[in-house]
Amino acid sequence: MDLNNKVAVVTGASAGIGEAIAKALSSAGAKLILTARREDRLQALQNSLPTESAVLAGDIADPAIADQLLDLAKEKFGRADILINNAGFLSTNPIDMIDLDLMTQMIRVNLEAVVRLSYVFGREFKAQGEGAIINVSSIGGSLTVPTWGVYCAVKAAVETFSQSLRIELGSSGVKVGIVAPGSTKTEIFEVQKAHGENPVEQEIDYLEADDIANAVKFMLEQPNRANVSRLHLYASAEIA
Ligand SMILES: NC(=O)c1ccc[n+]([C@@H]2O[C@H](COP(=O)([O-])OP(=O)(O)OC[C@H]3O[C@@H](n4cnc5c(N)ncnc54)[C@H](OP(=O)(O)O)[C@@H]3O)[C@@H](O)[C@H]2O)c1
Repeated sequence: MDLNNKVAVVTGASAGIGEAIAKALSSAGAKLILTARREDRLQALQNSLPTESAVLAGDIADPAIADQLLDLAKEKFGRADILINNAGFLSTNPIDMIDLDLMTQMIRVNLEAVVRLSYVFGREFKAQGEGAIINVSSIGGSLTVPTWGVYCAVKAAVETFSQSLRIELGSSGVKVGIVAPGSTKTEIFEVQKAHGENPVEQEIDYLEADDIANAVKFMLEQPNRANVSRLHLYASAEIA
């Protein structure tokens, strides 16, 4: 896909991997729909991008936001071509300390929203005979880690769901893929601390958000006949 003038919706664009993906796609000429809860961050990003963009601030767990994002893309740019389901957070704790409401929230943000947006945009892409969906998983989706059960299970579910949708939509001209990052230097661990958790700290050189953004750009820029359906990107010294 030539990204120039394509319209891409990026969730979780206010920080980390989503912000880096938005910048990478914009540098390649794509127009952007940016979403996350922190509107001030999205507006600052919008002002820094070389291409046109629109902002929709909101909680990705809100069932109405999928249609709102598609409507905004159509209203502002006439269409949508790319969906990047990136918004998410990590919550881990031993069983005695687990916050069940936070676990439920993680399922809603990291999985339910991915499913809703994938179906809403997938239908649109199928009808127009082209489009691409990339869902951000994690190497955790292939791992079984004590205290990480819900996060790993949710990312595994994102991968299985995405593979199923890839097969269902492949002959319609719509590509679906997952990118699974390893440990990446973002705010995800600060969010964990804000929840009173102790993030795992590894003495390794973490991936940068730009590394994941480059991988996503690589996936999108393949010719129509090729679909990089699963891309696992480890930090080189990652022991997982
Ligand atoms: N960093 C890693 O090591 C790593 C590894 C593997 C996979 N991942 C995955 O990569 C994705 C991005 O994470 P990151 O590392 O870039 O973390 P981050 O820096 O904390 O960014 C998370 C993004 O998701 C948004 N978000 C979180 N909850 C939201 C909600 N309820 N509604 C709307 N937006 C929400 C945040 O925006 P607001 O707070 O403004 O809403 C922010 O833009 C996640 O799916 C994560 O699981 C990360």
